[in-house]
Amino acid sequence: MKNIQTITVDSKEQGAEEICNIVRGELEAGRLHVLGLATGSTMEPVYEKMVSSNLDFSDVTAFNLDEYIGIPADHENSYAYYMKKHLFSKKPFKQTYIENGMAEDLDAECVRYETLLKENPLDIQFLGIGENGHIAFNEPGTSPESVTHVVELTQSTIDVNSQYFSEDETMPTTALTMGISSIMQAKKLIVAAFGEKKRAALEKLYAGEISTEWPVTYLLDHPDVTVITDQKF
Ligand code: F6R
Repeated sequence: MKNIQTITVDSKEQGAEEICNIVRGELEAGRLHVLGLATGSTMEPVYEKMVSSNLDFSDVTAFNLDEYIGIPADHENSYAYYMKKHLFSKKPFKQTYIENGMAEDLDAECVRYETLLKENPLDIQFLGIGENGHIAFNEPGTSPESVTHVVELTQSTIDVNSQYFSEDETMPTTALTMGISSIMQAKKLIVAAFGEKKRAALEKLYAGEISTEWPVTYLLDHPDVTVITDQKF
């Protein structure tokens, strides 16, 4: 697939290093001003590498893909908290943005976020993949035309992500997420997928056919995608 470059690695850590190398190249070429970030376990070693590197993000604006609805930024399971803990408290950025899952008017919040994205076009967007093929929280069935919107999380995503919530807490079942179209506007997409559990989604991508049921396959329509994975195909 000519739009998809695959880098096969032996470990998440090696994958993280590859991602940092791409970021370094783009920074040095003066092409990285706006960086789209993701959360989740896949991204943790990436942020660890970024933090321990000498990469300078003080002139870079960051946007996050998604945020749960109904938990505040200081809640340890919010994505705002995750970003602060893993990256922003250790590496200064020029400006960081994430959707406000506590906004009273969620539709207005989506419009606000999408407007910010239009004003600050993404140079690179990091993406993880859900076991069900979601990208950001764009679950199976999401339209390719979608922009930042409210989503009902699927049972598959709730089952996977509820491991991070303690027993006496209920995990949010709704979230705000950049849409497929918002993501596809990024000039460069870097997709990280490690472990057997991501294999089915990657197989769908490499099969080369776009399907609404596997949102990751929308990436087949993007001109510049790099997949970093420990799975061999
Ligand atoms: C997180 C996000 C999600 C995750 C995906 C994989 O911001 O947008 O799409 O990237 O669910 O999660 P992990 O890395 O925990 O397997």
